[in-house]
Amino acid sequence: MSTAASTDSPLRAALVGTGSVARLHAEALALLPHVELVAAADPMPGRAAEFAATHGIPAAFESLEQLLAATDVDVVHLCTPPGGHAKQTRMVFEAGAHVVVEKPPALSLAEVDEMTDAARAAGKHLAVVFQQRTGTAATHVKALLDSGVLGRPLLATCSTLWYRGTDYYSVPWRGKWDTEGGGTTLSHGIHQVDLLAYLLGEWATVNGQLWRLARDLETEDASTGTIVFESGAVASVLSSVVSPREASVIRIDTENATLELEHLYGHGHANWRITPAAHVSEADAAAWQLPDAEEPSGHDALLFEVYAALLNGDPLPAVAAEPTRALEIVAALYASAREGVSVDRSRIVTEPALRGGMRSPVTDLRPGMGRDVGQGVGQEAGRS
Ligand SMILES: NC(=O)c1ccc[n+]([C@@H]2O[C@H](COP(=O)([O-])OP(=O)(O)OC[C@H]3O[C@@H](n4cnc5c(N)ncnc54)[C@H](O)[C@@H]3O)[C@@H](O)[C@H]2O)c1
Repeated sequence: MSTAASTDSPLRAALVGTGSVARLHAEALALLPHVELVAAADPMPGRAAEFAATHGIPAAFESLEQLLAATDVDVVHLCTPPGGHAKQTRMVFEAGAHVVVEKPPALSLAEVDEMTDAARAAGKHLAVVFQQRTGTAATHVKALLDSGVLGRPLLATCSTLWYRGTDYYSVPWRGKWDTEGGGTTLSHGIHQVDLLAYLLGEWATVNGQLWRLARDLETEDASTGTIVFESGAVASVLSSVVSPREASVIRIDTENATLELEHLYGHGHANWRITPAAHVSEADAAAWQLPDAEEPSGHDALLFEVYAALLNGDPLPAVAAEPTRALEIVAALYASAREGVSVDRSRIVTEPALRGGMRSPVTDLRPGMGRDVGQGVGQEAGRS
């Protein structure tokens, strides 16, 4: 690796996997001073070269191995399917560079444990992209909740109602346990779960059910669940890829206010509404409103913070350094669907079997799949 971090020369970044999310990384890196995007790699013939031409990247390769052998890099962004993240992370650390990895960071908590151990052993950083926690709105709302002025959080809803058709699932890795790791709960719902848990703190117990309502997948195309937080707040969670009017929605009712967020893939101040309870004074309610100056959530905000830390030799910001809470909640939801009981956080932290992967039975309610919907659906293992 180069010694860029300890000199005035820029950090040299590379990007692996030049599919749909890679553009957000390239555009965010282009905004950063003292960072150069020097190489890209993708095994699909011509894909990395085309991406490199579009984004002004000087070198393109067909594999991470080739890229690492030929290029001096400080940071490698893994924008590849999640099944490859753990192995690719090890390779990058062995080459002496930091890793920025897309969500979900791996297929299981056990793999994430290996990745964080590898980071420690290499003395390098593992930054995980959960960009929904970024932006000034999330910071403002979290500060209000943490200060206690809103009273105790009581009840929440957390919905990721997206639409993904057959085209989306035509790539070989999606919709399968071995390569995507899970269905819409792991791949999509995890973003809002991550934001909700950032706002409400540590979780205590989760229950959940997995459904196959319309798509021809191994994994679920919808899930329902309940999270109980240590604070005593209760959240109802929905994840879906079968919802034509797409929306990502969080609502939190506290003793003194209702907090509401509706957006799709990123939120600014206009996406939030804070409604005081009738007993709150006008002066208090006015003080709670979102300030005028804003930074929206997104990859730009996240990578700005990550690179500021890397350039200064500081620890990673918490927003990128805490990869597991949302993954723990999602793993608990899958485990609950498998076992038919609620799953406590203590079990997810300590039981290797629950850290080993998400594969679970999915109740198939598609017409003609033989399910009698009157017979206690979701309480027992359905078809997988
Ligand atoms: N943070 C977000 O908002 C967000 C949004 C979309 C996707 N993602 C995540 O980003 C990752 C990639 O998703 P995507 O939608 O861009 O997928 P994609 O299928 O569009 O792109 C993945 C690319 O990786 C390439 N690839 C596969 N194996 C590779 C390997 N061994 N080495 C190098 N390249 C390889 C593929 O050829 C493809 O071009 C996933 O983990 C996904 O969950 C995150």
